[in-house]
Amino acid sequence: MAEILAIYPGSFDPITNGHLDLIERGSQLFSRLIVAVLTNLEKNPLFTVAERVEMLQESTHSIPNVSVDTFSGLLVDYARQKHAHALLRGIRAFTDYEYELQMALTNRKLAPDVETVFLMPALAYTYVSSRLVREIFQLGGSVAGMVPALVEERLHQKVQELEERS
Ligand code: PNS
Repeated sequence: MAEILAIYPGSFDPITNGHLDLIERGSQLFSRLIVAVLTNLEKNPLFTVAERVEMLQESTHSIPNVSVDTFSGLLVDYARQKHAHALLRGIRAFTDYEYELQMALTNRKLAPDVETVFLMPALAYTYVSSRLVREIFQLGGSVAGMVPALVEERLHQKVQELEERS
């Protein structure tokens, strides 16, 4: 069978169990999977790119065909540079669909040779998002079960860091 390289792009601020579930599924479908963190985020991130990359690396180190990288600029330019065949994205609910469809069709217009593949995470993670994880944590709630344990630890450190700074 042909070698298929896929890219799983995102902000991953921070990686959630939903992302991890998708990475595991993607690693079984594709020969190689690169998890690519966008560096030029418009949003105000909680974690630096280096911190996000580190958490991704630690969370995926046991999956041999998965690597972590960063990219800036257009995703399709990065995909071409890596000679990737596919882009992997997760769809949790109907609400994700419109945004994902727009992005997939835009990317197809820009690079017709790169296919977007959508996977659904396990049902248990369909409500989990990085945005909600950040919000719950900043408001003092528990994110147990929503993120890998090492991310929970990093979130605790981050809150202390932010408190010390203010
Ligand atoms: O996890 P996110 O924040 O939903 O990921 C969004 C991401 C990084 C996949 C998307 O913003 C992206 O690909 N940005 C790169 C710029 C680009 O290529 N834009 C045109 C395609 S819509």
